[in-house]
Amino acid sequence: MKIAFVGKGGSGKTTLSSLFIRHLAASRVPVVAIDADINQHLGPALGLAEDDAAALPALGAHLPMIKEYLRGSNPRIGSAETMIKTTPPGRGSRLLRLTEDNPVYAACARTIRLDVPEPAAGSVAGSAVETAAGPVDGGDRVQLMATGPFNESDLGVACYHSKVGAVELCLNHLVDGREEYLVVDMTAGSDSFASGMFTRFDMTFLVAEPTRKGVAVYRQYKEYARDFGVELAVIGNKVQGEDDVAFLRAEVGDDLLVTVGHSDWVRAMEKGRPPRFAALEEGNRRALRTLHERADAAYERRDWARYTRQMVHFHLKNAESWGNEKTGADLAAQVDPDFVLGERQVAESAVATA
Ligand SMILES: Nc1ncnc2c1ncn2[C@@H]1O[C@H](COP(=O)(O)OP(=O)(O)OP(=O)(O)O)[C@@H](O)[C@H]1O
Ligand SMILES: [Mg+2]
Repeated sequence: MKIAFVGKGGSGKTTLSSLFIRHLAASRVPVVAIDADINQHLGPALGLAEDDAAALPALGAHLPMIKEYLRGSNPRIGSAETMIKTTPPGRGSRLLRLTEDNPVYAACARTIRLDVPEPAAGSVAGSAVETAAGPVDGGDRVQLMATGPFNESDLGVACYHSKVGAVELCLNHLVDGREEYLVVDMTAGSDSFASGMFTRFDMTFLVAEPTRKGVAVYRQYKEYARDFGVELAVIGNKVQGEDDVAFLRAEVGDDLLVTVGHSDWVRAMEKGRPPRFAALEEGNRRALRTLHERADAAYERRDWARYTRQMVHFHLKNAESWGNEKTGADLAAQVDPDFVLGERQVAESAVATA
């Protein structure tokens, strides 16, 4: 299943997504983590040294290869050049699974070992990055992918879109099941609304501090999400007392799922001395279990037909507003009317008109 962490800059998206990723891995389920935030900090939050994090391959840099692979033999997509971030899969397309070997993971994913033991005195610390990417089945390992750093000139122009676009393409070609998790650390920024990225998740956790700005981002997200059946729950972060809880409750109502206070465990990690995950405060461990249960409950409402319809909706919108002009092709023709993404991959033609 697919889970996003969104929220205002600095609210704690990276911190909470990294804790949730650690919780899932400790629960021995497969996890693929994607850093799609403007500030690329997920690697260090999962224990990578800055150098190792900076050396992660960038999804954005592999976009042509990703397109070529996903296109497969789909006759409706003439070339990778005409594939935009919203181009939906159809018959002939290659689909991704969370636990498999494929060229996209080989090029872009790295296996990260969590809870790397402290080196013995006098010896050199082991790296948290393992050499080969490959399927992981939980335990203390996860797969990590990153869009790559955004620089100032990216924001608002094509390059920024193509970096996040690589993630959107992967999401739209992913056939994921229960008990396997994709966790994306991303912004609540306007790019995800323009492209439909915000509709691609079984569960969206919006991290909000108990401040007016924190809840303003929630309101905007809620507004966009309303018409698309997006499952949204708020995690109150940096909550200091009853007054903070009452504020969030008053502002977001029943959407408030849990609140998290200041964590000494997180602070120690920030100092470069991550304690074992098992040492995380009990209250925060409980909060992570609540997130896990809420996400699993959302999966029950997964609807592949609606998921496919929404990707087509956003593709047609993007085709009309800029894609057709940019590629010089009629991108509406890329839509395979008989295709429904899902376990069975090719489905009833009836859905085309539904
Ligand atoms: N519950 C917490 N306890 C202690 N420190 C926290 C907690 N949540 C967040 N922080 C700290 O607050 C800072 C911002 O958190 P984080 O980087 O996770 O936010 P973000 O939303 O990902 O920010 P950005 O928009 O910059 O990516 C970090 O220094 C982090 O360690
Ligand atoms: Mg962040």
